[in-house]
Amino acid sequence: MGDRGLLSRAEALRLEPPTWCHACHALLYAPCSGRLFGRVPLRFALLMQLRFDGRLGFPGGFVDLRDGSLEAGLLRELLEELGPGATGLEVGPEEHAGARPGSSDEPRPGQRLVAHLYVKQLQPEQLRDIEEGAARAPDHGLEVLGLVRVPLHTLWDGSGLPEFLQQRFVGSARDQLLDALHRLNLVPGHELERALSLARRSPNSQCHQEGDLGGRGT
Ligand code: APR
Ligand code: MG
Repeated sequence: MGDRGLLSRAEALRLEPPTWCHACHALLYAPCSGRLFGRVPLRFALLMQLRFDGRLGFPGGFVDLRDGSLEAGLLRELLEELGPGATGLEVGPEEHAGARPGSSDEPRPGQRLVAHLYVKQLQPEQLRDIEEGAARAPDHGLEVLGLVRVPLHTLWDGSGLPEFLQQRFVGSARDQLLDALHRLNLVPGHELERALSLARRSPNSQCHQEGDLGGRGT
């Protein structure tokens, strides 16, 4: 097991059914040259989705042995949830960004979940194609209620990422997001620390994650 309690792809694959089930989700992002209000640089566009259960998560889902591989299962899920814009997507083992065994909510009775995350950088046009095709996805309006871009900025009044972090997230999605923001430097370390501290201080905060960036080495 590596740092941050994550398993590599090979380690995770040793956790077999029927004791374990596997879910694969994808964090897709692209550089973004836009400026909010003409002045706040956005730097990156990063996709999450609003799910049928009212929570935020990454596109993807349960995979099984009939899929042939974790990545083939993930691509099947991405086509269902993202639609035609995901047709040309390639996701391979090299994009595996760690697996979390036995997360707190166990979606299938009697089985423990291994949650894999894949992280993939896209060209801005590819990300735009996915957004444009999302309403034509088979799962649109059913299991997936819409794609969203995560606000990665923190504005002068503390809104933006700190507010976003107070939403409800499915499974380990919030940890997966924070981990990736930190590791890929999508949000500079000091800004991420500030966003987390504002999120914790908010009167609406449901955040109990004292050690949000604990072990991530900022
Ligand atoms: N994003 C989404 N889900 C995650 C994440 C993440 N980053 N990390 C872990 N999970 C866990 C959740 O607990 C979730 O229930 O993985 C589980 C499976 O992922 P889904 O995307 O919900 O699975 P999917 O195959 O798309 O099926 C959708 O249909 O069978 C029902 O209730 C079942 O939630 C399932 C739904
Ligand atoms: Mg899903």
